Amino acid sequence: MATTRPTSFPVWIHEDDPAPEWADEVRALARQRDAVILAHNYQLPVVQDVADHVGDSLALARIAAQVPNAEIVFCGVHFMAETAKILSPDKRVLIPDAAAGCSLAATISADQLRAWKAEHPGAVVVAYVNTTAEVKAESDLCCTSSNAVDVVASVPDGTAVLFLPDRHLGAHVARLTGRVVGRDIHLWDGQCHVHEDIGGEVLEQAVADHPEADVLVHPECACATSALALAASGTIGADRVRIVSTGGMLDEARRATVDRVLVATEVGMLHQLRRANAGVRFDPVDPWAVCPYMKMITPSRVLTALREGRDEVQVDPAVAARARGAVERMIALGSPTGPKTATTGGAR
Ligand code: 13P
Ligand code: SF4
Repeated sequence: MATTRPTSFPVWIHEDDPAPEWADEVRALARQRDAVILAHNYQLPVVQDVADHVGDSLALARIAAQVPNAEIVFCGVHFMAETAKILSPDKRVLIPDAAAGCSLAATISADQLRAWKAEHPGAVVVAYVNTTAEVKAESDLCCTSSNAVDVVASVPDGTAVLFLPDRHLGAHVARLTGRVVGRDIHLWDGQCHVHEDIGGEVLEQAVADHPEADVLVHPECACATSALALAASGTIGADRVRIVSTGGMLDEARRATVDRVLVATEVGMLHQLRRANAGVRFDPVDPWAVCPYMKMITPSRVLTALREGRDEVQVDPAVAARARGAVERMIALGSPTGPKTATTGGAR
């Protein structure tokens, strides 16, 4: 199937660090509004620090489903805020910029998924959380990078899986579940433009420059297969390469005893890793791996969101009702959320 690819991406909007009073005003407004602030690991450090919870997409979805607050301010990208709204339809969900999309989610539409399903009757559709609500509504199961293997493993042997939209994560899941691509599991040919650019050559150079370092790779990276090849060839010890979600990276960081760790993912992740273990040096494999959508959530937009109550995320109730089962199964599967994958912001 052909994929739709966005032809242009937003430019990362740079803002200077806010004045020291900014965090106090954000926290005071959040209290007044009975709002909880959630921030993804790829957010700007200053936004991570003002949030109530910071984590990967699974941890944040679980927190969104449980918090008692009337309002959720989601500092992340649109599909994450939409997922929170699907799980908590009675809460007001705000995102500081509704245009903060995702190039990976944009690679498949609900119409394309319906056509793909028609080619594979009887297959179970497993959608990565990086999809629109309409695509989730067409899916049987939803997953994130931290529980994709558990979710696909829950599908009975002999039942084909349509895995979408990330082909690198799909290949990783196929490897770990022993499913043969093209027979037991079919992969949509989508990719995230940020992780696609972290390729094998970039990783090989970083490993050659720092042969003593451990390596953490997000499964969306184009270099995920190269990382395993480096381990298989003995260039780097197999126990020193981990392919993990952003929350999994944090678990690894806490356990790390080496001097240096190379990190292949979006650079916002480094903030939590460095906070988690100050004794280790965490270096990006690609310092230019910046998600322009994540960086649309600027400090001034966070403040405006809280002052003006916008942008409110709406999901058509009929679509949400059809998507909810798949999303609820996602948050029920895999390791539980706790301080390991969601840390409390340090600004209060
Ligand atoms: P995580 O599920 O690891 O947080 O990743 C989300 C994402 O968008 C990665 O690009
Ligand atoms: Fe989407 Fe890629 Fe940004 Fe993650 S890093 S939100 S997959 S564009």
